Amino acid sequence: MNNLENIVSLCKRRGFIFPGSDVYGGMAGTWDYGPLGVMLKKKIMDAWWNYFVEQRDDIYGVDAAILMNPKTWAASGHLATFSDPLVECKECKSRFRADKIADGISESVTTEEFLATHTKCPVCGKENWGPIRKFNMMFATHVGAVLPEDNTENAELAAKSTAYLRPETAQGIFTNYKNVVDTIYPSLPFGIAQQGKAFRNEISPRDFILRDRECTQMEIEYFVHPDTWEENFEKMRSAQHNFLENIVGLPQDKLHEYEVPAADRAHYSKRTIDLMFDYPNGEEELMGLAYRTDFDLANIQRESGKSMEYRDKVTGETFIPHVIEPSIGVERLFLAILSNAYTEEKVADKDETRIVLKLPENLAPYKFCVSPLLKNKPELVTKAKEVYDKLRAKYSNVTWDDSGNIGKRYRKQDEIGTPKCVVIDFDTLEDDTVTVRDRDTTEQIRVNIAEL
Ligand code: GAP
Repeated sequence: MNNLENIVSLCKRRGFIFPGSDVYGGMAGTWDYGPLGVMLKKKIMDAWWNYFVEQRDDIYGVDAAILMNPKTWAASGHLATFSDPLVECKECKSRFRADKIADGISESVTTEEFLATHTKCPVCGKENWGPIRKFNMMFATHVGAVLPEDNTENAELAAKSTAYLRPETAQGIFTNYKNVVDTIYPSLPFGIAQQGKAFRNEISPRDFILRDRECTQMEIEYFVHPDTWEENFEKMRSAQHNFLENIVGLPQDKLHEYEVPAADRAHYSKRTIDLMFDYPNGEEELMGLAYRTDFDLANIQRESGKSMEYRDKVTGETFIPHVIEPSIGVERLFLAILSNAYTEEKVADKDETRIVLKLPENLAPYKFCVSPLLKNKPELVTKAKEVYDKLRAKYSNVTWDDSGNIGKRYRKQDEIGTPKCVVIDFDTLEDDTVTVRDRDTTEQIRVNIAEL
């Protein structure tokens, strides 16, 4: 019923998400958002920004550059440790992420542990593996006038010009910590939030938009006094649950916390809780909440020679703040919301199934769809346009639909999650009332235009 293929198919059919570079046969791990997808994605991002930045007095926004000074990635540890375990089949030369093809092993798997699982190559079926190698997932590029031949003829220039597409938005926050402190003078605890693209050369992108090579992160670095990290971790943990359950409507029973063991935590983290979601293909990580200590600011202080210390306004105490970081990928949240909303229902008294996206009203791409009952009756079309203009003046995202018959229009609006369809018919011309049909119940009521 609620499987991933049906959702992928709906996304393409209705213009939510297309494979990246579709016209050229696609590009693994990339996806393009169509007209409906852009609207839903933007609403999700706006809901997050509103909840964590606009509605709070202690979190400020930044929008940092994607290309950053390469010293960033040396200091952050990404150059040395941001890698996945790569294994190559010696028979067919296919390459895989080892922990994704063998059961019961983690990202920190050794060659011996992997060989002991007796995994067969998913492509050729043989069991003849090379050693596990650490594969750094950052995309490298060159900044400035560097020619391809410089890689061999002028290696020094090529190396000096190497830059990376950011693998997390977090570093754009840490590198601006001092700028924010010096311009806003916030009191601790305070946070800096950012939304933006992050790039990872995933060995095996998969599960539709769940594991991409280009994703959009929404991250907060929340700076706290080192003695208060535990209480602030708990506060952030409950704020995340509140956002996921009450603002974007994910059901509590589909969310599960996973305490990440030390061996599997990112190099910077002393504690991580992953929030897992029941996706159509099983439980997967939706977001992470990490205690990053003073790892990043202390490293930036060392690399840059600039003080990252904070001076308490009351006590005068000087220290490097510690950090609590909630981090969520928009794509994973998008898929969680979409798969939770996707419903197939039998239509009462008919041998028919309808597909409905039961999206929360605050996220639905369109709030209302306005239609004339019949397209070829000018008096109905004129009246319907009047109602359409009235609603548009009041609400954003009202759509017009006069295609096909009314039944087909309802099916289409159900599939894209429009909560209410407003239909103008011959009675409207007499008494100024319209039919309002509810997406979830399919019930229809008559409402006076003035009360819409
Ligand atoms: N700054 C911390 C950080 O980047 P992470 O666990 O690597 O931590 C945080 O990523 C979140 O970003 C994940 O929980 C997930 O929601 C999203 N994310 C990471 N890699 C992704 C990918 N390849 N595709 C889609 N989303 C991804």
